Amino acid sequence: MQNYKAILEEIYTDGLNATDKGTVASYIPELAHIDKNNFGIHLKTLDGIEYGAGNFNTPFSIQSISKVLALSKAMALIGESVWKRVDVEPSGHPFNQLALLELENGIPRNPLINSGAIVIADILLSHLKNPKEDFLNYVRELTSDTNINYNLEVAKSEKNTGYKNFAAANLLKSFNNLVNSVDDVLDFYFHQCSIEMTCSQLSNAFFFLANKGYCLTNTAHLTKTQAKRINAIMLTCGFYDEAGEFAFEVGLPGKSGVGGGIVALLPNHFVITTWSPGLNKKGNSKLGMLALEQFTTKTKLSIF
Ligand code: DON
Repeated sequence: MQNYKAILEEIYTDGLNATDKGTVASYIPELAHIDKNNFGIHLKTLDGIEYGAGNFNTPFSIQSISKVLALSKAMALIGESVWKRVDVEPSGHPFNQLALLELENGIPRNPLINSGAIVIADILLSHLKNPKEDFLNYVRELTSDTNINYNLEVAKSEKNTGYKNFAAANLLKSFNNLVNSVDDVLDFYFHQCSIEMTCSQLSNAFFFLANKGYCLTNTAHLTKTQAKRINAIMLTCGFYDEAGEFAFEVGLPGKSGVGGGIVALLPNHFVITTWSPGLNKKGNSKLGMLALEQFTTKTKLSIF
């Protein structure tokens, strides 16, 4: 039996003492003022063990982590048709890179880079009756928690400065890979990214991906095969041009966001979430990556 509590506390203390905590994202102005000394870790196992250390109950901007939940909703709605509009290959490029999209005729490499997530947002917009309300309710349902909301200031802040996302959406539109208007799709996308959750809420929300599609209340949200597909995409694409490094160091499917969160999971075993807002050069949480590497090294639990 692993002493998860001792391991998490050790990793937390090491993280607090780290001298280089990375740089907080400032390209979304509303995120720039977050204190980079925040640090939280939360673990939830499928057999009911739960531990948290540090700021694991403080809400933060989930940003790109939302792309996994949006993809999951899109797969639940239209199944394999998703793959007619977005590929499943790692991009090897930053999350907001545009060049590949043009070269590859408007088919994004995968649903976790920005262009791919914008296509998924378009699918949700076409298939949900009240897109923003329905998506938020979906996230709340997965988490078994109604205390989850959009941060309207963050959504507005990104809308005012999201030039590359507007460029991506226009490029998609020019290749006929966007059904709804650029403005409507991006309005939804910026709201989706602005959702605030805590580490423990994120561990709960991602529980279904570690549990063959079944959420905390044992409701099936995806088939076992769909859950497998999403985990595969997280492993190969969840960290953009650092996906190889994350697989190499940590060895788990996971997803990061520029708010400094990372969720990672071992199918059939656990979900672990970290939050530290300082990012490395590739836009992934510096301490979060270190903490997760320590966790899989100390516990010897990874998919490999
Ligand atoms: O579209 C963007 O740039 C942000 N809303 C999300 C980017 C993000 O989180 C990248 N992840 N590390």
